[in-house]
Amino acid sequence: MDESHRSEWELNYQPAMPRDRSKGIGIVGAGEIVRAAHLPAYRLANFNVVGIYDRDRNRARQVAADFNIPHTFSTLDDLVNCSDIEIVDIAVPSDQLRRIVEAVVQRRKHVLCQKPLAHSYDEARRIDDVCSRESVKAAVNQQMRWAPGIQASHDIIGRGWLGQLTQMTIQVNVLTPWDHWPWMTAIKGMEFLYHSIHYLDAIRYLAGEPDYIFADAAKFPGQPWPAETRTTIVMRFAGELRGLVQDNHNNFAPDNDWYATFRFEGTDGIIKGTNGALYDYPVGRGDTLSFLTKKIRQDTWITPELKGRWFPHAFMGSMGELMRAIEEDREPVNSVRDNLKTLKMVFAAMRSIDEVRPVWLSEIE
Ligand SMILES: NC(=O)c1ccc[n+]([C@@H]2O[C@H](COP(=O)([O-])OP(=O)(O)OC[C@H]3O[C@@H](n4cnc5c(N)ncnc54)[C@H](O)[C@@H]3O)[C@@H](O)[C@H]2O)c1
Repeated sequence: MDESHRSEWELNYQPAMPRDRSKGIGIVGAGEIVRAAHLPAYRLANFNVVGIYDRDRNRARQVAADFNIPHTFSTLDDLVNCSDIEIVDIAVPSDQLRRIVEAVVQRRKHVLCQKPLAHSYDEARRIDDVCSRESVKAAVNQQMRWAPGIQASHDIIGRGWLGQLTQMTIQVNVLTPWDHWPWMTAIKGMEFLYHSIHYLDAIRYLAGEPDYIFADAAKFPGQPWPAETRTTIVMRFAGELRGLVQDNHNNFAPDNDWYATFRFEGTDGIIKGTNGALYDYPVGRGDTLSFLTKKIRQDTWITPELKGRWFPHAFMGSMGELMRAIEEDREPVNSVRDNLKTLKMVFAAMRSIDEVRPVWLSEIE
């Protein structure tokens, strides 16, 4: 499209930032995701990381040294008692989460929890209970919502350029090195809980909750991991809207054959794009997105150049939203309470496999 028409379709997709970026952040967990995404994003956003704690002290010390973090704490108590820390950012395996959240919110600190919040709906609800009892702001790092392709899609859909939504599809065909996370591979529903959860949350963010879900999953013959690594999730929404998430993590072809795509369709427009983070793994690349809409010109795909990436830039979005919610004294859009709805989708998919039937979200409680 002619650049002179840019003002007709300029998108607003960069994460909104708080007015005050100086709130002290304490980090629990010094693992791969903190090093690869949290801290690079916070550096870009100029957020104030005060200290870090990991039960593996050497790891914490190393990360602190690499990112110029002033304090390495020897215990969780030392971190939560530090008066310079207002927000605790927890990035440890989910089975450790509730105990840490309890300690944090008792000290009236706000909290950002890595996903998945829990391995069962009941456990997730208990975390929500703990957070609401202490009236702190509690959010989940379900950060794909702030990936440039998804945030741009949110803007396009919000302007009504797709008309009535009809189909939300995310498809992935890659090779995933599950052995990087040995603690994860024995978890029942690993793929849904740790990977497809991003896509379910992104679709829910854009289109709301489906009524019911039908899912299937399989292994790749001979794979060393007990959990399924090929999944299909079909979503049925009210009216004519349908959704599909399909993942294969066993693509042994060279990575120029891999794909990680999204396509969102409506009565008046179509968005198609790629989740750049999954290409050229682990280096990744930027998201791409094209859209066409009858509201501008039906025969022309518009292809804005998106700046930033899912990893790490979107991590500015999830922490930035928590900080804005604290400033504005409101619930964050990525609140723990809101995340329960995404988890309903995850657990509906898992139950659907066990019971070989469509599962209504209202059944998950
Ligand atoms: N949002 C995302 O896109 C995304 C991506 C990757 C991982 N994650 C999540 O982040 C979390 C961590 O993943 P990772 O890849 O960094 O794992 P990792 O195994 O590399 O690191 C986990 C770290 O947590 C520490 N730890 C474990 N239990 C602890 C406890 N009780 N107290 C203090 N430290 C503890 C470990 O020593 C380790 O350093 C997981 O929940 C994972 O699901 C989210």
